[in-house]
Amino acid sequence: MSAKSKLSVVILILSVAALFAGLASAKQDPELKQCSHQCRVQQQFDEQQKEECERRCEEYHREKKEREREKEHGFDPDRKLRECQSRCMGQGQGEARQLCRFRCQQRLEREHDRRWEEEGKRQTKEHEEEEEEQEHNPYVFEDRHFYTATKTEKGRVDLLAKFTQNSDVLRGIENYRLALLVANPKAFVVPNHFDADAIFVVTQGRGRISMIQEDKRRSFNIETGDIIRVRAGTPLYLINRDDNEKLFIVKLLQPVNRPDHYEVFYGAGGGNPESFYETFSIEILEAALKTSRDKLERFFDKQGEGAFLEASKEQIEAMSSHEEGREGGGGIWPFKSDSKNPFNLFKKRRPSKSNKYGQLFEVDADEFQHLKDSDLGVSYANITRGCMTAPFFNSRAIKIAIVVQGEGYLEMVSPDSGRRKSGSSLQKTSSRLRPDTVFVVPAGHPFVTVASSRTNLEILCFEVNIENNVRYLLAGEGNFVQQFEKEAKELAFKTREAEVDRIFGNQDEEFFFPGPRQQRTRDYE
Ligand SMILES: *[C@@H]1O[C@H](CO)[C@@H](O)[C@H](O)[C@H]1NC(C)=O
Repeated sequence: MSAKSKLSVVILILSVAALFAGLASAKQDPELKQCSHQCRVQQQFDEQQKEECERRCEEYHREKKEREREKEHGFDPDRKLRECQSRCMGQGQGEARQLCRFRCQQRLEREHDRRWEEEGKRQTKEHEEEEEEQEHNPYVFEDRHFYTATKTEKGRVDLLAKFTQNSDVLRGIENYRLALLVANPKAFVVPNHFDADAIFVVTQGRGRISMIQEDKRRSFNIETGDIIRVRAGTPLYLINRDDNEKLFIVKLLQPVNRPDHYEVFYGAGGGNPESFYETFSIEILEAALKTSRDKLERFFDKQGEGAFLEASKEQIEAMSSHEEGREGGGGIWPFKSDSKNPFNLFKKRRPSKSNKYGQLFEVDADEFQHLKDSDLGVSYANITRGCMTAPFFNSRAIKIAIVVQGEGYLEMVSPDSGRRKSGSSLQKTSSRLRPDTVFVVPAGHPFVTVASSRTNLEILCFEVNIENNVRYLLAGEGNFVQQFEKEAKELAFKTREAEVDRIFGNQDEEFFFPGPRQQRTRDYE
């Protein structure tokens, strides 16, 4: 007997054993017992019908058990075939048994095809749903669109997917990337540089940043609202100076080597993250540092706990003690143009729009030359709970916004992607807003943001292409319809001027209004 046929005999014996074990336990099953009992007590059934009825009970029971087992162990066609064929043992001899075994095979093949088809349908449906969702809203990015670039116990950096990842409607900002840095209390972010120009905004916490600019070190204490411009390739390190509070920094990056991708290079920290010192061959290091291989190996070996390390209280105090060159504070840095780096959004200045429904803080490009150089604007809206911003559009700026605190929702008008709704060429895009939701409003697209009735909604915005941008308000004080002449108003709105003025003059607040009475935030939960 060949090894193969020996194996089949063993399998056959095992299957038969399994079958009897299964039958024995099946007979014990109360549900099956009940079912068979019902068959036996049917007065109107003759003996054959009763047997047939019992057989169906058994079949039903067996299928149910199979489904349960499958749920636990997955679909196993080989085992199923074996079990089915072993049941043929009781089907007489020769041809009858052959036929029974053949039917088993056929049944299994059909079953297999059916599953295959179902799985295909399920996947297509899932794919379509996913596509529909993304197609529905290419302007909004949530938690799942961030991925972790670096993470240790002391902090992390999350990088947002490319703006063009799922759709090309945002191709105008494909050269920008957004990242979030969170440093735990007392964390030290090891020295690094990256091939991108960046704007950092501190959205919470107290830290200190040191940048090496040419042959000088510039260090500043930083706090909520500080905007720091970091030129590509500048070596820098950071600490969170606080004992309790985390430090949050939002970074807008503009890569210089590749349009939509940047790399971070770590100089110290060896191993993890990999240091560019250690990446060189040891002969080069020996020569360059004029130090023996042994010493170098021991030296670099000590490092390697990741990009975020813990600093001691004394180290933090020592590093934080002297303030240099901040906002013209008589620092050692000689160049005036840099004297306002960092620049604070909230301090020593009034909001550019303010009423009891909200406040808007904006950096005036002339105040902070660095933003002007990069053709960027930075603003911060603090919308009072239950209130909203005026609907408006930017003439040429593209807004990249991130929710810093609170909840609410966004409504934006965008061109219809045009597949289903024929007839109208515009569509409404809405999205729930919560902390870390990122949304992009392209130039010319009217939109509003509304704070939930429970919390203020605080939004940090970067505006790309800010130069010569005009904000056109669609309602409230200063709305653009008020500039139309009488005839244009009457032609455009097909009614008397007085009526147009009544509608467009009724809201007399500027920029922030009480929100919709019917709070719709619920719809987005
Ligand atoms: C936003 O407004 C609330 C309430 O007026 C205030 O407590 C909070 O500090 C403001 N946030 C910022 C960043 O100014």
